[in-house]
Amino acid sequence: MSLLIIGGTGTLGRQVVLQALTKGYQVRCMVRNFRKANFLKEWGVELVYGDLTRPETIPPCLKGITAVIDASTSRPNELDSLKKVDWNGKLYLIEASKAADIKRFIFFSAQNVEQFDSIPLMKLKYGIENRLKKSNIPYTIFRLTGFYQGLIEQYAIPILENLSIWVTNENTYISYMDTQDIAKFCLRSLQIPQTTNQTFFLSGSRGWVSSEIISLCEQLAGQQAKVQLIPLIALKLVRNFFGFFEWGKNISDRLAFVEILNTENNFSKSTFELYKMFKIDSSEIIQLDDYFLEYFIKLLKRLRDINFEDVQKQKNLII
Ligand SMILES: NC(=O)c1ccc[n+]([C@@H]2O[C@H](COP(=O)([O-])OP(=O)(O)OC[C@H]3O[C@@H](n4cnc5c(N)ncnc54)[C@H](OP(=O)(O)O)[C@@H]3O)[C@@H](O)[C@H]2O)c1
Repeated sequence: MSLLIIGGTGTLGRQVVLQALTKGYQVRCMVRNFRKANFLKEWGVELVYGDLTRPETIPPCLKGITAVIDASTSRPNELDSLKKVDWNGKLYLIEASKAADIKRFIFFSAQNVEQFDSIPLMKLKYGIENRLKKSNIPYTIFRLTGFYQGLIEQYAIPILENLSIWVTNENTYISYMDTQDIAKFCLRSLQIPQTTNQTFFLSGSRGWVSSEIISLCEQLAGQQAKVQLIPLIALKLVRNFFGFFEWGKNISDRLAFVEILNTENNFSKSTFELYKMFKIDSSEIIQLDDYFLEYFIKLLKRLRDINFEDVQKQKNLII
């Protein structure tokens, strides 16, 4: 089976690529910048130029492809790209995939999208889910929770740099996931025919409140966090304010995402069923404390190496 992965340079996409290669799939990635994507080539991927905002570049990427895995989304630093990538680009991609007789299309959406049509990205994701369902292309949709990788930026780095951490006053448990595990579900779905034309709510095996994540980071960093509380209602007002000026602008979407994940959910029973269907044991799933532990060990080792190199340089200067 040959795969076209879009968004292979991204946080989730690169994990999907890595695991697909390990499993022996023939992997092609649609990329906008060959230099940036060079690491994928080194892994053994075929790189093809393509840009979702340039529809004519899409069909050539699909030649000889069996399944499409779309892990792309607009980059927050590229202003005005949200609608071009997450709406127009995805519609072009679905249309081209239909013409290319693609046998499976995997799309990553977000949890609770249908409840948040005031948030541009969520509205677009929900719209694309529906377009994909109507396209007659065999599909699998994964509605995702937050990634562990995002928590590094949100909690670990501010603690290490003695910066404030902004948290809401809500105490909702969120079952974040490691992108490696999301990639595992994604690739497993290609081997399980019952996952065709289905939407799955993917979440980790354990929920965390922000205070627990903060104390975990404090413990590992050996430093106290500077925590600032922001009421959820204030968060909504800030989002409306930013959203008013520019639709889809990064800051309002980011704030909105906190709100989405803060919606009460009861995943436990459905999560259990989901793991069973994908034949994935919950003990295989990477736990947040192990993920953070590995991150801090690597970081502290790197800092020690840098200090060592500095001392060596100074010694060499003295000599
Ligand atoms: N992050 C989360 O917590 C979260 C939560 C729920 C759902 N999701 C969804 O999960 C998926 C993966 O998210 P992520 O955080 O891994 O994304 P990401 O790291 O921001 O990566 C985005 C990818 O999309 C590519 N891309 C952007 N514009 C493109 C264009 N015009 N044409 C072709 N490719 C383009 C980027 O390529 P370049 O490298 O060239 O920029 C990059 O590879 C997305 O659908 C996202 O909405 C994410």
